[in-house]
Amino acid sequence: MTLLTDELKQAAAYKALELVQDGMLVGLGSGSTARFFTEGVGRLVAEGMKVRGVPTSRATAELAAEVGIPIVTELVGPIDLAVDGADEVDPSLNLIKGRGGALFREKLVATASKRFVVVVDESKMVKQLGAGVLPVEVLPFLWRSSAERLAGLGLSLVIRGGEETPFITDNGNLILDVTVEGGIKSPGDFGVELKKITGVVEHGLFVGMTDTVIVAGPEGPKALGRASSGI
Ligand code: 5RP
Repeated sequence: MTLLTDELKQAAAYKALELVQDGMLVGLGSGSTARFFTEGVGRLVAEGMKVRGVPTSRATAELAAEVGIPIVTELVGPIDLAVDGADEVDPSLNLIKGRGGALFREKLVATASKRFVVVVDESKMVKQLGAGVLPVEVLPFLWRSSAERLAGLGLSLVIRGGEETPFITDNGNLILDVTVEGGIKSPGDFGVELKKITGVVEHGLFVGMTDTVIVAGPEGPKALGRASSGI
């Protein structure tokens, strides 16, 4: 039987629901895979579980409100568990995220979490990051200067949405979709280089942040990573 990508995304997200416990503060990711997780958390809340959520985007905040999850946006302690999708996952569980445009808040939530769990279908697993574009969020003010500096690193890029109707992030910024010829050989170092450019607010490389990846293929979801126990 051929499973559709959506069914695989759902299988991965539902597996992550097994990690949600009463009383938890849970980071709610963005995108079509994380959506299955948020809807599932909504069902747990409807069944009486006391869970609060920290949404990683306005879209997720709206969904969380729709399905009845109490929302927290001011933290007074760590998030117990964050669950989010990804665009690419390499063998060291480093990620590219942000093709949905929510990378900055997603990174903030992942960083503030005790456990960061990534849910993907198997098509997201790559040998080396950079097969597709790397989203970089930049301040709109003098954004061409930031773009020129990125181009100076030998990168080609496009402004998401085009110059006439650019995509605007939840933080009021622009996204430059960067192509790295030959892929990203050293994601950690490359991320540091990108952050040195004034005007770069954040980039979609998540390096050394993932505790567990739940990847769904035809044989069902399986957990990878240093903290894959418990599922
Ligand atoms: C949004 C993201 C998403 O998690 C990522 O794009 C994966 O999305 P999907 O689950 O729809 O494939 O990083 O900024």
